[in-house]
Amino acid sequence: MRFDQPATTNPIDQGRVVGRATPRIDGPLKTTGTAPYAYERHDVAPAPAIGYVVGAGIAKGRVASMDLAAARKAPGVLTIVTARNAGKLGKSDKNTAKLLGGPQVDHYHQALALVVAETFEQARAAAALIGIRYETAPGRFDLAAAKLHAPLAKDDGMGGKSQTHVGDFEGAFAKAPVQLDATYTTPDQGHAMMEPHATLATWEGRKLTVWTANQMVGWAVDDLAATLGIPKENVSVKSPYIGGGFGGKLFLRADVLLAALGARAVNRPVKLALTRPLMFNNTTHRPATIQRIRIGAGKDGRIAAIGHESWSGDLPGGKPETAVAQTRLLYAGEHRLTAMRLAVLDLPEGNAMRAPGEAPGMMALEIAMDEMAEKLGLDPIEFRLRNDTQVDPEKPQRPFSQRRLADCFKLGAERFGWSKRNAKPAQVRDGRWMVGLGVAAAFRNNIVMKSKARVRLDGEGRVVVETDMTDIGTGSYTVIAQTAAETMGVPLERVRVLLGDSDYPVSCGSGGQWGGNSSCAGVYAACMKLRGMVAQKAGLGDDATFVDGEVRGGGKSVPLESFSGLVAEDGMEYGDLDKRYQQSTFGAHFVEAAVDAFTGEVRVRRMLAVCAAGRILNPVSARSQVIGAMTMGVGAALMEELHVDKRRGFFVNHDLAGYEVPVHADIPHQDVVFLDEVDPVSSPLKAKGVGELGICGVAAAVANAVYNATGVRVREYPITLDKLL
Ligand code: MOS
Repeated sequence: MRFDQPATTNPIDQGRVVGRATPRIDGPLKTTGTAPYAYERHDVAPAPAIGYVVGAGIAKGRVASMDLAAARKAPGVLTIVTARNAGKLGKSDKNTAKLLGGPQVDHYHQALALVVAETFEQARAAAALIGIRYETAPGRFDLAAAKLHAPLAKDDGMGGKSQTHVGDFEGAFAKAPVQLDATYTTPDQGHAMMEPHATLATWEGRKLTVWTANQMVGWAVDDLAATLGIPKENVSVKSPYIGGGFGGKLFLRADVLLAALGARAVNRPVKLALTRPLMFNNTTHRPATIQRIRIGAGKDGRIAAIGHESWSGDLPGGKPETAVAQTRLLYAGEHRLTAMRLAVLDLPEGNAMRAPGEAPGMMALEIAMDEMAEKLGLDPIEFRLRNDTQVDPEKPQRPFSQRRLADCFKLGAERFGWSKRNAKPAQVRDGRWMVGLGVAAAFRNNIVMKSKARVRLDGEGRVVVETDMTDIGTGSYTVIAQTAAETMGVPLERVRVLLGDSDYPVSCGSGGQWGGNSSCAGVYAACMKLRGMVAQKAGLGDDATFVDGEVRGGGKSVPLESFSGLVAEDGMEYGDLDKRYQQSTFGAHFVEAAVDAFTGEVRVRRMLAVCAAGRILNPVSARSQVIGAMTMGVGAALMEELHVDKRRGFFVNHDLAGYEVPVHADIPHQDVVFLDEVDPVSSPLKAKGVGELGICGVAAAVANAVYNATGVRVREYPITLDKLL
């Protein structure tokens, strides 16, 4: 099915199942520990050999020698895979660093060897016996220093421009009566998902099957085949349950490649999980940024000039963090400049983490907006409303498909009690606590991706959906079941959803908050095709209706059971609607923060997010997504930072004791409100993404609340107490 005109009325609009609060189908499996994760597939491989990954102990240089003799003789050891015996390996263009390094070392903890043994303990013990001598080369580990020589990135890493210029930014900024020129920094951050990267690999002849944790099954097949140099047809990837990804599992990582190589070498299934310390330096992370924002406005509070430049670093050949993305779209202003500069750093690979671009970009922009509002003597909501726009500010002929940012602020202000805020900072005390309110916009682009599915009617009157879409804890199983139930006119219990398997049609996968809308649109397309087949078999026309497990028309009704065995496969493809309209999601974050007047400890007391993200397919899972994202936003504001050892080039706090994320006690009260809207431009579902919208702007709302509480403006995240004293 092709989607190239705004959606008209269709079966999804019935709202019998889609849009209803529906508990997650996989919830009981996950909460009882019975959802089988990759490392737990005892059913498919009861006695696999175990792999243990050895990561490089330097950040840059060469392996001069590797002594494997003692390790090879250690008890239980079956083989040791290194670059010397792994055979020729290709590389997918989605990975910047090689997944198996040696002799060249590109970053700290780059995998150099895999020890395969009978047990985990034996593999680990043998790994400790490997003697590696390195020739260390000087590396570049300091973004602030590397920034000075950083050229413009060649693009934004996704085919877009690294720089945009509209009007005369410099001239208009210089003339503006009210100006802000401030620099903000965001640190390197780790995904810190609960389930580490883990894979079980088996070979049957030339055919490889991996059970793994991966957000994008289709990409994993392509990249594994390309890296091993084998045909795609010989690669099968299974990822039905995933314990969190946040972008860290978008791409093929070392666990998959090494498990496959190990299993091939020992001719028996091999499984391995990256240990927690390897997770931070072996895999990818959200790169640190330095962001300079300049805003010039008239005394009337209208922005005349807005400029946002961002610096980030990555390994040679890597990508910039697209931290200026939202500034191209969020606020009006005639004269504009955005630019992304990219330094070469020899730290582990930078890559996507939940809302790449907007998450760190909004952390800076939305403090800048707060600072500017104060300079203008305007309420920060009023300042944003004065600069609201219904068209793409860089291309004014292009409207937003929907943009209800103003409604989000107005509703949020009312619900949160914003009118009680004292605009003057450091005025409100509650015992030893200084209390403040902060607000920020939420903004994240809405991407649509083609996605396929297969739908069949089984012998028991059930609708069975198959697609390689993944559920990373987001609720894909449930919204897909709702979509199929709604379209086929059956109750939810009569839909069975099978996901995360490359035997199924290729989906959009889970990333960039496109998963819900795009995968359901693919399922909708397949269901509409199946409806056509059923109607034809029943001798009915296009006006046949599907209700209560029956197809009805022309005065007759036939139960769907009568059509068991029918299978339809289709997908959704998109025309140029996303060129004709700018599709984005919007929201407003409100935060009440309290700061201990003596210790500087920050406590978030209340949070509210109001979101406008098209049709909400399932208010329960959408709310969970936003709550999780708000929690992650608090982490970004107050805690999360990978500390760079600038001499040795690695992230020092590479475990969950040193890399702090919020826990329940840090998050006392959260509320989420969704505006009642549909966006007919996004897909026949009229839904948009929400899982990443929820994090964008949160940290700035916290920072602005802390400023309102204390009068201390912190521009370097995270806002730890030392920065407030
Ligand atoms: Mo997301 S960072 O595209 O999983």
